[in-house]
Amino acid sequence: MLDSDLRTLARRTPVVVALDHEVDAGTRRLLQEFSSLERPPPVKIGWLPILEGGARVIGSVKEIFPGAPIIADIKIADIPYMGGLIARRLVHHGADYVIVHGFAGSDLLREVARTLEEEGAGLIVVAEMSSEGGKECYSICAKRIVLEAARAGAKGIVAPATRPSRILEFRRLTGDLAILAPGVGAQGGNLEDTLTAGADMIIVGRSIWTSKDPISSYRDLMRRALDVIDAPEKYRRTRDR
Ligand code: XMP
Repeated sequence: MLDSDLRTLARRTPVVVALDHEVDAGTRRLLQEFSSLERPPPVKIGWLPILEGGARVIGSVKEIFPGAPIIADIKIADIPYMGGLIARRLVHHGADYVIVHGFAGSDLLREVARTLEEEGAGLIVVAEMSSEGGKECYSICAKRIVLEAARAGAKGIVAPATRPSRILEFRRLTGDLAILAPGVGAQGGNLEDTLTAGADMIIVGRSIWTSKDPISSYRDLMRRALDVIDAPEKYRRTRDR
């Protein structure tokens, strides 16, 4: 894992780039451009690049981004024994953080957190999904998940940029846990509302990758995010999508 914790890191690089497609030659070139920026982004690697390229893709992206954290996002939801084994393999492939579904239980969270601690990596727990249906079940148990994540020693939680009021509630419960929020852009969430509600980082995929110029889209999101971090009072309001 990298030296600084996620919250400290978020003050410099608050935009996580979600990588959700095959790492072909064009994507590799773009990733190299991202990594040569003054502030290379943390990269979250989802199921699709792994299904297309194998788990090895985590290591190949890590090589491009030696100084930025790599988050493996296969949203583990299994029994603790399997969760621990899977998390360990993801770290051996190059992940610095691993995302686990909170609904699968506090025993899973504790086992994965323990395993990741041994490996020098960190646990991130989904507290509530950003999708519309994501609130059906998660809204019942999300607050408990946040508390269990903190108790288990997680380094961060995932909370919906599409519902800033939930981020506000979780922020009151989390103490020092980093809040990572997907849902800005393609899913309708707003960057300023998300960060002023208490998120440390936004996770963005399609708005970056499907734009004509992914690098300037990322730069633009970074500039806006850093503006909010510098002067949150200028942007504060709360509105759910
Ligand atoms: P887009 O294209 O919508 O991509 O900007 C969002 C990225 O974030 C992931 N995602 C989530 N991950 N909990 C998670 O752990 C969520 O509620 C959630 N919503 C979106 C998605 O897989 C994609 O990589």
